[in-house]
Amino acid sequence: MDDGAQGTDAGGDERTRQPPSDFVANANVTDADVDAAFDATWPDCWRRAADLLDWERDYDDVLDDADPPFYEWFPGGELNASVNCVDRHLAERKNQVAIKWIGKRGERRTYTYLDLHREVNAAAAALRDLGVEEDDVVTLYLPMTPELPITMLACARIGAPHNVVFAGLSAEALSTRIDAAESEYLVTCDGYYRREDAFNQKSKADNARLRLDGDLEATVVVDRLGDELRTPLGDDEYDYGTLIDAHDGETVDPVARDAGDLLFVMYTSGTTGEPKGVEHATGGYLSHVTWTTEAVLDVKPDDTYWCAADIGWITGHSYGVYGPLSVGTSTLLFEGTPDYPDRDRVWELIDRNAVTVFYTAPTAIRSFMKWGEEYPANHDLSSLRLLGTVGEAISPRAWEWYHEHVGGGDCPVVDTWWQTETGAILLATLPGVDAMKPGKVGPPLPGISAQVVDERGDPVDPGETGYLAIDRPWPGMLRGLRGGDERYRREYWEETDDGWVYHTGDGATVDEDGYVTVLGRLDDVITVRSQRLSTAKLESAIVEAEGVTEAAVVGDEQGDIYAYVTTKSGVETDDTLRETVADRLEYEVGPIARPDEIVFTTELPKTRSGKIMRRLLEDITRGNEFGDVSALRNPEVVGEISSAVE
Ligand code: PRX
Repeated sequence: MDDGAQGTDAGGDERTRQPPSDFVANANVTDADVDAAFDATWPDCWRRAADLLDWERDYDDVLDDADPPFYEWFPGGELNASVNCVDRHLAERKNQVAIKWIGKRGERRTYTYLDLHREVNAAAAALRDLGVEEDDVVTLYLPMTPELPITMLACARIGAPHNVVFAGLSAEALSTRIDAAESEYLVTCDGYYRREDAFNQKSKADNARLRLDGDLEATVVVDRLGDELRTPLGDDEYDYGTLIDAHDGETVDPVARDAGDLLFVMYTSGTTGEPKGVEHATGGYLSHVTWTTEAVLDVKPDDTYWCAADIGWITGHSYGVYGPLSVGTSTLLFEGTPDYPDRDRVWELIDRNAVTVFYTAPTAIRSFMKWGEEYPANHDLSSLRLLGTVGEAISPRAWEWYHEHVGGGDCPVVDTWWQTETGAILLATLPGVDAMKPGKVGPPLPGISAQVVDERGDPVDPGETGYLAIDRPWPGMLRGLRGGDERYRREYWEETDDGWVYHTGDGATVDEDGYVTVLGRLDDVITVRSQRLSTAKLESAIVEAEGVTEAAVVGDEQGDIYAYVTTKSGVETDDTLRETVADRLEYEVGPIARPDEIVFTTELPKTRSGKIMRRLLEDITRGNEFGDVSALRNPEVVGEISSAVE
């Protein structure tokens, strides 16, 4: 451990940590004045990101802001994303590993950049042959197998936007997304393994097809399960492997896309309302993603990088596929789950593959904490040099645990804030420049202007809770919502005297140093005796109690506070722990926050992307009917929690 790696803020008891000096010495971005330099030249500063890419035609300008909030980044520029992620690496590293896949049963497959080039071209030729033309949307409904990134890149090569639907979503969700995207092509698979069992994905896709308003021109089916599951192919259905063999060795000229042309659409995983088709344009998105992969995650070509997020969500798109491949690094693609066959699976893979940069979510980190530090301790994790986290607030305690038990005390931990809509990271510390503060995300990145504001849009004082707003456009931003210009403007943007402001929907605080703490969605607020309390604030107070791993807080109709709490294995869930939890809430938030009920449970109900389903807990608390729970990752906990409440 680097002795200089810890320090305290002058005048406060808050801990800050400096990145270790040997890390800084080799970091991609180390210029201390990078913020000032971006500010001084904005928006031209973003050339630094765009110039990390190969452009077919150079852009005329950095930003066209003539028609806000419809901003155009790098107008006049033309490029192809698959060229940037594959072809351009052939000159220097054609034999370097691009993707190393580890299947659920321990199967392994490795693609060098040359292999990737060959298969992306064959897949592109096959899609073309099936009738896919530029701007046709192709829906991909695949688990974490190499065919998913390969078909994404094949689509990008021929200028066909992809529409990836998380493989665990239902037939209904798939059909809604195919119709909404007006997509006529689908790539799916026969099935995949869920723990021991073969699961039939094709039958879900068939059900989705029956529900469609439109129809599919062609469906391509990847044979994932071989003899374990034979799904007959119907009309307009094609076997992926046969197509690849038929087109093996063909090359497809990459289509030069305008910077503003659609690269993909991604339907947000929201737990309420109609899913929103978030559209990302090619040039701005790829520039911003590539720049942040380098600047924040510090990825270099010689890294072995692992982003544990599923490609079915935005993190997997930006930092599992486009970012790392654009940088030309080697990435791990893992189909399995972290507790199968045992709870050390992640550590075993990091050890065995000498992973250097690891990016995951607080929900996973809390599970690791719950399982215990003996699991990481049994493996050699010394190859790791940077850890990242995204998706939710990470508590100081979880941050410290990750830093110490995974990072060995000497890896910077970057807490990254962003959204499906922002495309890429907007708030984080730069590991080669900034000090870290456990539990706080960090400042806006260079070139990003974020404020924490009150209802009137005025900046709040340090420490006060407000709304996180972004008051300058950024390259990775969504270019709009599919079929919804008006909705795009209404849901995200506001025109103020000082220009257009993007509302993130998140509550936040900012400290004297400009470090932002994101509290979570603003709609996650409960009203107790006419005081509005942020559930995120209550929950982060609870998880600071010794032995507690996760918490979800909801209110009932009377304004009573119910806290649902999970603990580390072996911890006694008795009245003493209840007292400790209540005391923590009182200490952190005030006497008003003492909960009326504390319910201990083995797990909290979660969406497939790992977000706690507070709405469902609220229904249980209030004794309301609750609908279909099959979209949950762990529907089995609902019964347990209901009977505990009763
Ligand atoms: O509430 C914030 C939370 O996740 C939301 C975005 O969710 P999604 O579009 O699914 O994208 C997740 C992956 C980028 C945000 O509005 N969030 C994301 N990162 C953080 C976070 N909350 C606190 N801290 C973070 N680092």
